Amino acid sequence: MSVPVIAIDGPSASGKGTVAALVARQLGFHYLDSGAIYRVTAYAALRRGVDLADEAGLAALARSLDLRFDGVEVYLDGQPVGDAIRTEEAGRAASKIAALPALRAALLELQRGFRQVPGLVTDGRDMGSVVFPDATVKVFLTATAEERAQRRYKQLIEKGFDANLAALVEDLRERDARDASRASAPLRQEADAHLLETTNLTIAQAVDQVLGWYREVRPN
Ligand code: DC
Repeated sequence: MSVPVIAIDGPSASGKGTVAALVARQLGFHYLDSGAIYRVTAYAALRRGVDLADEAGLAALARSLDLRFDGVEVYLDGQPVGDAIRTEEAGRAASKIAALPALRAALLELQRGFRQVPGLVTDGRDMGSVVFPDATVKVFLTATAEERAQRRYKQLIEKGFDANLAALVEDLRERDARDASRASAPLRQEADAHLLETTNLTIAQAVDQVLGWYREVRPN
């Protein structure tokens, strides 16, 4: 049997990363935050002076990145990048370069390499559609833009960043529109993905639902 993958896709700040990491912990699986790969690529480009519209330059950069993941920490060239990739600015830059097909292609193998025994839980925009089309369970996890802005607001304040709720709602809408309208691997619910609408769910309820869907397919 192939190594199981639980693919959780959805819009920005939906809470998919929190849910995915908890599901991974419950099952003892590996966890991949694919958004962090786009974020750290954009961060590396800004640091090395690669223009965020230079598709070939970004693809070459992506292929040469020295990346390592340890839990939620990301290491670039052996150094932890910390919260520098978690700002709204870093998210916007990631969303911009994520629209470029050659860059996406350059990151495919890197992402697929995380599929290792005993299994993988991963979150992003195209985990179930492009990166792991044969995923064991596919989930499209979402919430209203207002609820997601509240969640992102709390997260940013907890990290000690400044945040403005109205600006966050605007920013999320803009990012959703860009992620959903791009030609290459747009954000959308796949026909074979379970819809998980979390506006009125607790994190624990969302985690239980994903575990339930997984157990329907792999009972032990
Ligand atoms: O999930 P996130 O907010 O950390 O992702 C940052 C950006 O990266 C997001 O706006 C779009 C892009 N992304 C993507 O295109 N495909 C993925 N699998 C993950 C993220």
